[in-house]
Amino acid sequence: MTRELLIPIARDVVEHAKAGTIKQAKEVMRLPATHYTDSNRFNTEVERLIKRVPIVLGPSCEIPNSGDFKTLSIAGMSLIVSRSADGKAHAVINACSHRGACLTKEESGNKKRFTCPYHGWSFSNVGDLLAVSAEKDFGSINKKDYGLISLPVYESAGLIWAILNPKSEVDIPTFLSGYDKMLDTFSFSDWIYVSKREFSGPNWKIAYDGYLEYYHVPVLHRDTFGVDATNQGLYYAWGPHQHIKSPATEKGHLATETLGYMANLIGKPEDEWDTETLTYGVWTVFPTTSIASFDAGGRGVLISQILPGNSVEESITTQYYIMEKPPIDPEGAEEQFDFFQKVVMQEDYAMGSSAEPALKEGGLDHILFGRNEQGNQHFHQWIDKILNSDTDKDLNSLFSNTNENK
Ligand code: FES
Ligand SMILES: [Fe+2]
Repeated sequence: MTRELLIPIARDVVEHAKAGTIKQAKEVMRLPATHYTDSNRFNTEVERLIKRVPIVLGPSCEIPNSGDFKTLSIAGMSLIVSRSADGKAHAVINACSHRGACLTKEESGNKKRFTCPYHGWSFSNVGDLLAVSAEKDFGSINKKDYGLISLPVYESAGLIWAILNPKSEVDIPTFLSGYDKMLDTFSFSDWIYVSKREFSGPNWKIAYDGYLEYYHVPVLHRDTFGVDATNQGLYYAWGPHQHIKSPATEKGHLATETLGYMANLIGKPEDEWDTETLTYGVWTVFPTTSIASFDAGGRGVLISQILPGNSVEESITTQYYIMEKPPIDPEGAEEQFDFFQKVVMQEDYAMGSSAEPALKEGGLDHILFGRNEQGNQHFHQWIDKILNSDTDKDLNSLFSNTNENK
């Protein structure tokens, strides 16, 4: 049990809550508008960030059994994520080693082998080339050399990470900076996969910015979270990864789980602080994932994956809804997920899209992140640090030298 890891954070939140204070970044940050609009910048981010650092592929409980698989697309690459007979997660590029055909278009399923729809070569569910059709006619090749291209994968805390570069030397645990141990306090590996949604949005960082601050909540979400929702966040960081909690003291607010109100702990002895409340708030797994708690007739989290789309102006969001136990009322839970999707699309992303013309047409030279928008400052600073690191070795030393909460 790693509940102890959450106690110092909750203690800090309670102190701030009682004192009515927050921590602030050193200064207001200015970010060039072109960082959201320039196609060259976008391509650089895809090549030097998205294809170099570990990316969450989804929750482990989406493929719980051996033979389970799912497909997904990241930065134009189609992947098969599967679980082998020994229980390990794998990620391979969804392209036949003969002439590159897409092996499967199925979104998910359970298979021992994949047979290519073009000439019929077959591969195991972890990518080993099992059979070449009409092998005598085709000619001899060493099958061991022609498995599917396999990516570095790491499964921890009930989540699956992979690096899109098969030859990457980036060490995933070093990149995680202990953050997976924090996420493991949820015990996601025992949770249940319930539902998924996919939709497009504005530039991926405009979209992601909305997951990194509470400043907008009572304004943009006045009709959904309410004008009385907090606009303050307290930030905790592990390398590039962050956690946001609320210093609000109101008990039982609609935003308690999602924004991480710790009010229920105030005045209670620490040994009575329950693990569930301690995990509330927003957990952002750098660079494209955000996890937030909800209650849908049972404890759950929404894992949002915000990936760059085909152009600088487009992102693709996948929402994974997972729960500790199956929802008591499955239909009611789905209605709630529809509602969350609507809030993100019609409030957050609609607002993000409304900013794009001004950024693009030069109306604004730069945008601002306040001292209270520390999470956004941290995110954009980390992107620059990574873009400025030339080799995987540089990345490893960058990640190993930072743990802000130590
Ligand atoms: S492309 Fe797959 S068998 Fe030919
Ligand atoms: Fe929002």
